[in-house]
Amino acid sequence: MCPEAFTPAVLDSLIDNFLADGWAVADSLLPPDVVGNLAAEAIGGDALGGFHASAVGSGTSRSVVSATRQDRICWLDPLAATIAQQRGWDLLDALMSGLNRSLYLGLFDREAHFAIFAAGALYKPHLDCFQSGGLRVVSCILYLTEDWSETDGGALRLFFPGGYRDIFPQPGRLVCFLSDQFYHEVRPASRRRVSLACWFLRRSILPVKVA
Ligand code: OGA
Ligand code: MN
Repeated sequence: MCPEAFTPAVLDSLIDNFLADGWAVADSLLPPDVVGNLAAEAIGGDALGGFHASAVGSGTSRSVVSATRQDRICWLDPLAATIAQQRGWDLLDALMSGLNRSLYLGLFDREAHFAIFAAGALYKPHLDCFQSGGLRVVSCILYLTEDWSETDGGALRLFFPGGYRDIFPQPGRLVCFLSDQFYHEVRPASRRRVSLACWFLRRSILPVKVA
């Protein structure tokens, strides 16, 4: 792991806030050049045809439902990471171990994809925990589009019992939340919105046979 890849104090306060609220947001965990390289890799990969329309649900109920979810994605292969992607994995792994140390969440693995929402694309309110066979415990999104302004729209809207909070996709911002606790949606934006989404997974429990 590369120790200067992120600022431990910012990571510690992200973990403290997550511990208190079940969600947290932090800026500047990765240097702007790394964020820029990740964005360029996503956009370049899409231009080369490496992205596909996303799907919702899991197992046999999995389907591409364009009215619900309109991003295009490309899964990351951790074993074939570019230098910038490795910086991203290092940060995410540090966060995952920090959460395991503080919360005993039993996080065991992770999966991540780049996501591109074209102008006007959205992702309607949903929980993340039904994807990937129900193994998702923590959702993390790292935003990559440069120079985002709130007037561009594209907020991640996190719903709470009494209302909601809009988190705008500023470049380098990382938001994380418990996958089964917070309904959330992606609001449409007036420009292309690029991100890296990652989920920390619990270990799969084999079904127990009942006699
Ligand atoms: C998702 C998701 C939120 C965002 O990919 O499941 O909710 O802000 N993304 O991109
Ligand atoms: Mn989601």
